[in-house]
Parts: sequence; C-alpha cells; structure tokens
Amino acid sequence: MSSARACETSGYTVHRQGDFAVATVAQRVQDCADCAGTGLLRSTVTENARTYDVVQPCPRAKMISRAAAFSEAHLPAVHAPASFDNFRPSNTEQARAVQRARDFALRFPQTRGYVLSGPVGTGKTHLMCATLKHLSLEVGARVAYVEISLLYAQIRRGFQDGKSGGEIIQPLSQVDVLAIDELGKGRGSAFELDTLDELIARRYNAGRVTLFATNYSLRSPEDRAQRGYLGTDALVESAKESKLLCDRVGDRIYSRLCEMCEFVEFPGNTADQRRAKNAAERVPNGPPRR
Ligand SMILES: Nc1ncnc2c1ncn2[C@@H]1O[C@H](COP(=O)(O)OP(=O)(O)OP(=O)(O)O)[C@@H](O)[C@H]1O
Ligand SMILES: [Mg+2]
Repeated sequence: MSSARACETSGYTVHRQGDFAVATVAQRVQDCADCAGTGLLRSTVTENARTYDVVQPCPRAKMISRAAAFSEAHLPAVHAPASFDNFRPSNTEQARAVQRARDFALRFPQTRGYVLSGPVGTGKTHLMCATLKHLSLEVGARVAYVEISLLYAQIRRGFQDGKSGGEIIQPLSQVDVLAIDELGKGRGSAFELDTLDELIARRYNAGRVTLFATNYSLRSPEDRAQRGYLGTDALVESAKESKLLCDRVGDRIYSRLCEMCEFVEFPGNTADQRRAKNAAERVPNGPPRR
C-alpha cells in the first residue's frame, strides 16, 4: 500500500510500498507527446552542408528506467522522504556529515565513500538514503542498500535452498554504490565476519564506492598497537563486548574502510530524533498524540 507521505524529487514521486521506498514518474512513456510513446526522440542535424538523422533516448523514458532501478535498490520504506534538505544538523559533526554526503553525491564517481557513526536515531540511515536517492534518480548510478544482519539472515536461508553466500553477495558487490547499514551488528561469528570480509574485499578490489553507518565508535583503542593483529578466533572473543568498530569488524575490514572512506562520528549526546519526535507529540500527562 502506498503512503500519503511522498517526496517529490525533480519529476519523481518517492513513496512507501510495502517494506521499501519506490519511485514513480508522473507521466507514462506511452502518453509522452515528445516521443509518441516510442522512448526515442528523432531530430535532424545539419553539419558542413550535410543533414543527419539523430536518435536519442527520450528523457522521460530515461526517468522511468531510473525510477525502476531505484525501486530495486530496496531502501527502507520509512526513509522514502529522506533528503539532504530535510536533514537538520544539531551539531558541527552532523553539519559535516550532511555536507560530506552532498559533496559525495555531487562529485561521484570522483570521490571516496563515508562511514557515519553515532548513537541511535541521529539520522545516519536518513543521510545514506538521501545520498542513494540522489545518485540513483538524478545521476543514474546503480545503487543498493543492505542492512548487514538481514543480509546474514538471507544468506543463511539461501543455504537451505542450495545457494552459496557468493551468489547472494554477487549483485551487491557489482552496484556502483552500496550502502551497508548497521555495520558491526550481529553475533560477530566467523560466518558473519567471513561474509562481510568477502563483500567488502570484492568492492575494495574493484575500486567501487561503499557507504557505511554504524552505532560503534570509529576511534582506535589505546592498546590496539600493542595487541597487534588478531586472527579470527581471537577476534570473535575480543569483539563481543567492544563498543569500537575496529574490534567488531576486525583489522582486515577496518583497514580497508580507512582507505575507502572518510569517517564522521556524531557525539554521544546527539539527540535521538525518534524520541524527540515522540516527546514533541505528547500532551502533558497524556498519551502521545496521533
Ligand atoms: N538531523 C535530522 N534531521 C531531520 N530528521 C532526522 C535527523 N536525524 C534523524 N532524523 C529522522 O529521525 C528518524 C531516525 O533517523 P535514522 O533512522 O536515520 O537514525 P539512525 O541514526 O540511522 O538510527 P539507528 O542507529 O537506530 O539506525 C528518521 O525518521 C529520520 O528521518
Ligand atoms: Mg539506521
């Protein structure tokens, strides 16, 4: 079912449909007066006294194909309205994050990715979705969104159907821009670390841009240098209690993130906008207003 909360992006309407955000274009290509429903614009060009027939894709047909690709990217439905303009920074790190996300979208593909770290409800997924939306609809990049623990679950289910992890990872390793959400979440098992390692290594090796969001801190622990490299078993044990991303994902992945991305970390006291919204909607001594 479509939500009434839709977002207009230069000719597209982005709205919720089931679990995901989908984009539509107001006019169907069949009704396009410019190309008479063919998807192609024909014109003639005269150069050096010779006349050529030129055929170009109709801009509306291009929009329809971008909208279809966006709808396949599986952005969470709740973030259908997310944009750079409706993100309101509450501190300098958030202002830096929205600026970084905008710059990324404008400079793509000549740019590194980013990692956003911060407490819950501080707009990390909002900014990643705004970035993917812009790149998909305005630039025509192939994008995808994945929440990492849902990917692990999908791969485990795939095993039962005889599918390998590699088969499921393949399309995610090939898109122009992949957003990996909730990095570091999960049980930190060897299976999870190997899956994440494979996905990130494939993208790193191919030089593809990746965006990340995490609740874990991007700081390096003081004792990291003395402790040295950790193998998988030692890593699984040490990572369980850690609040640091480098412990959660391990040295190999963290090292690649440092090269692939710019890091932005929101302070621990950045307000949770879900709670702020709930508080604003409450009447004194009463239930939340709906
Ligand atoms: N600075 C902001 N300006 C406008 N809306 C915001 C801002 N921060 C968060 N929101 C809104 O608050 C809600 C929660 O944001 P979001 O899901 O992006 O948080 P998050 O940092 O990804 O949280 P979590 O760590 O729990 O995944 C969304 O509806 C989002 O649009
Ligand atoms: Mg999030």
